Amino acid sequence: MAKQNIELIVNGDRYELAVEPWRTLADVLREDLRLTGTKIGCAQGDCGACTVLMDGRSISSCLTLAVEAHQRDITTIEGLSPSPDKLHPIQEAFVQHGAVQCGYCTPGMVLAAKHLLDANPEPSEAEIRQGLSGNLCRCTGYNKIVDAIGAAAKKLSDAGKEA
Ligand code: FES
Ligand code: FES
Repeated sequence: MAKQNIELIVNGDRYELAVEPWRTLADVLREDLRLTGTKIGCAQGDCGACTVLMDGRSISSCLTLAVEAHQRDITTIEGLSPSPDKLHPIQEAFVQHGAVQCGYCTPGMVLAAKHLLDANPEPSEAEIRQGLSGNLCRCTGYNKIVDAIGAAAKKLSDAGKEA
């Protein structure tokens, strides 16, 4: 099948690519752009490991064709922090609260949390759990992840009030 030319804006960088129309965004991010922070678990929309932001909304990149992302703004875990030597506050909170074990779910969890906190800066615990309902973790039991996101919300919200 003929390749299609697409343009992706990933973490602020513009890429021109020729891709088969059946390739997923997850595959193109990992294989063509070498952004392997985006993980593939189930490859069928169940686990959330492949979560990225597209125009600020969290999506399953395993269910999104790369051609659907043409000229869309994509954020992967590699692009979340403001600089390579600094973690985003959500990532810092995951480290501080022991919310990472094997780490396979972590990029998707962090990006789902980013989407949640952008939409709802002061979520309740129930709202955090709801916001993570599309992301599975087989290691942590979720409580430390929920605690980390609550702490990140407080830190981001306090920083916003001081700014
Ligand atoms: S790899 Fe996309 S939802 Fe599981
Ligand atoms: S830390 Fe292992 S799957 Fe979540």
